Amino acid sequence: MTAKKRVAVLISGRGSNLQALLEATQDAYEIALVVSNVPGAGGLERAQQAGVEAIALDHKPYGKNREAFERDLDALLVERNIEIIALAGFMRVLTPFFVNAWKHRLLNIHPSLLPKFPGTNTHARALEAGESEHGCTVHLVVEEVDSGQILGQARMPILASDTPETLAERVLTLEHELYPRCLAEYARGLN
Ligand code: GRF
Repeated sequence: MTAKKRVAVLISGRGSNLQALLEATQDAYEIALVVSNVPGAGGLERAQQAGVEAIALDHKPYGKNREAFERDLDALLVERNIEIIALAGFMRVLTPFFVNAWKHRLLNIHPSLLPKFPGTNTHARALEAGESEHGCTVHLVVEEVDSGQILGQARMPILASDTPETLAERVLTLEHELYPRCLAEYARGLN
């Protein structure tokens, strides 16, 4: 059997997708590191409870210099021999430096059926647009936000009674199933 791929999960908040990635039993990957750009993010505690190294790298001291933040993040990931990065609610737009340094090894989960509704407020926008279905997408990250190669999607019908909140809740359940599956498939296919 080939070795499990070493995955770093980057977060900014509660980390429910991180939790799903930690809990899924996988022969293809191991979560080796969790980094949050927000100190005190709930996901850091989830990582610690799972026995995974959890580091806060606050972006604020870097001010407007996004690349300087990313260079330190990159150095940390390289030092820990990370092979794949999974963004899971990481609320920073990445510069070309980082995206290109991790090309084909950088995944994200987005709460819409891309290419529909890139960006924020996806659930409210899906409702406003009168969509009949909604869902989530795991994709590779490229320079243009939310537009890399799609690795997998999960979909569900939108009900007449739905609000942005009920959609968010049901999509999140789909995310928790989709992300571990797509990450494992991708890790298996990576040399
Ligand atoms: C999820 O909806 C994900 O699709 C989006 O940010 C949210 C993160 O939630 N990118 P969590 O921190 O994983 O609970």
